[in-house]
Amino acid sequence: MAQSTTTAAHPGPALNGRQLRLWQDLLEKRTGVQVVRRQENGIRTQIVRRMAEAGWTDADYYFRSLDTASGAREWGVLLDRLLVKETRFFRHQPSHEFVRQRIASLASDLESPLWLWSAGCASGEEAYSLAVDAAEGFARARREGNYYVVATDISKDALAKARRAVYPGAEPSNLPAFLGRYFYSHGPNQVAVDESLKQRVAFYAQNLLDKDNRYLNQMDVIYCQNVLIYFKAWRRRELINYFRDCLKPGGCLVIGPGEIADWQPPQMVRLDVPGVQVYQKRSQP
Ligand SMILES: C[S@@+](CC[C@H](N)C(=O)[O-])C[C@H]1O[C@@H](n2cnc3c(N)ncnc32)[C@H](O)[C@@H]1O
Repeated sequence: MAQSTTTAAHPGPALNGRQLRLWQDLLEKRTGVQVVRRQENGIRTQIVRRMAEAGWTDADYYFRSLDTASGAREWGVLLDRLLVKETRFFRHQPSHEFVRQRIASLASDLESPLWLWSAGCASGEEAYSLAVDAAEGFARARREGNYYVVATDISKDALAKARRAVYPGAEPSNLPAFLGRYFYSHGPNQVAVDESLKQRVAFYAQNLLDKDNRYLNQMDVIYCQNVLIYFKAWRRRELINYFRDCLKPGGCLVIGPGEIADWQPPQMVRLDVPGVQVYQKRSQP
């Protein structure tokens, strides 16, 4: 019996090195995410804990069960435990300041709304930060806000938090003054995102390995930070080429500093912005 209740007579599940590698390979194949050596113990703990919760004692049986029809749901549960979803508002300030300036320069002469994409948005802080950047950019240009933010992630758990838009750890009174316009107090030491900002942001589940054609030539700004770092170099390049295809001519891709090195994405120009890694899609192919 591979699935049973753990008792004193039956110690909890365990995962040996070979079995751990099976999961590492599966995670990389399905999401692109590589597990580096220092993360191995954390991953092992999460898998073993999940096996105990779900009543699995044999790691090989559990692994094979993920390939069955009912395995898709279980994979979703496990995946939420394996991915690193650390994030925060305005995580990389210089990149956000770049986005504000970029929006301000585009805002004065617009025929249609501006579209921004937070790719790998985790629990939404990055997406709402981009929405604030856009609102502030339009305000600088003295124009009414005309923009939308699309935010995607593979983690359904993170997306549920993002849609709820309530975050612990801050009071609006502690936020810089202009942020008070976009957040309000929601119980002790919690802030909620104001409805006016929430309405600008739509969250969708998307695996970045499944390149979605919906976004082709649609985006003015694509913001993808702290996601590519988990991928192998060839996947990073593939993804950056996909992001380029999703930008409108002249649109910008903002990644984290150093997230690609020694490679110049074709049909894109690196902009000279101190501390920011940003590429602009050429207007002519
Ligand atoms: C460390 S968080 C970064 C969040 C945010 N971009 C930031 O910089 O604060 C990485 C996010 O990438 C997501 N992710 C990893 N692989 C993905 C994939 N193949 N498709 C979509 N999202 C993915 C994870 O679920 C996680 O929420």
